[in-house]
Amino acid sequence: MTIYVAKNYDEMSQKGAEIIAELLKAKPDAALGLATGGTPVGMYKELIEMNKKGEISFKEVSSYNLDEYYPIEKTNDQSYDYFMRDNLFNHVDIDIKNTHIPNGMAADCAAEGKAYDELVRATGGVDIQVLGIGGNGHIGFNEPCDVFDPITHQVTLDERTIKDNARFFNSIEEVPTQAITMGIGTIMTAKSILLLASGKGKAPIVKEMLLGKVTPQVPASILQFHKDVKIVLDEEAAAELLSEIE
Ligand code: GLP
Repeated sequence: MTIYVAKNYDEMSQKGAEIIAELLKAKPDAALGLATGGTPVGMYKELIEMNKKGEISFKEVSSYNLDEYYPIEKTNDQSYDYFMRDNLFNHVDIDIKNTHIPNGMAADCAAEGKAYDELVRATGGVDIQVLGIGGNGHIGFNEPCDVFDPITHQVTLDERTIKDNARFFNSIEEVPTQAITMGIGTIMTAKSILLLASGKGKAPIVKEMLLGKVTPQVPASILQFHKDVKIVLDEEAAAELLSEIE
């Protein structure tokens, strides 16, 4: 595991984008596992800039997003489908046909999860999986629970997650209470992982994820068992970790 501590959000975003750009230069047809949330937005902006300057191309890239609210239409501006088009896909040379996001309107979530896992499996494992981390340690929408969920599945969101995500909605009542998420097992098949975290609100969970015991109560702690993880933090998110190990 490699941990980078950037000065601030912008430097964290820059570093994350450099890691992805390096992969795309070495492997133009890379399979990217992508994430939503506030954290990766700056990194996506950097990647858009790099693409505009001709430094990287997404022409041959395929992408697999972590999760989607449920039920939600793609056209809803709160859907992760909309988020990805708005924050990345519409601004780079990716072929939208090669982008994949769990279907927030699936009639049968179990079948959707199975089909999504097949798609991910067909890549042989995405080359890099981008992750943020929830304040409660969730990755994707794998909420704290008693067992690590191996496959893509439907979940009921934690109260904490609903509260945290309410900032993107007009009111907390509008936040969906369900989602479809890649399972922990699906995430762990990625060849490499890039986790970004920013801000002092994330400092306690960052420390817990990296120094605490591996437990499904802190889903991100499973990353301690992955063989190729890069964690990019800004100084605020790294503060508690650094004060523990220094
Ligand atoms: C969201 C997403 C996660 C994301 C996390 C943190 O709800 N499902 O993929 O990493 O919560 O979000 P943020 O980056 O906005 O703090």
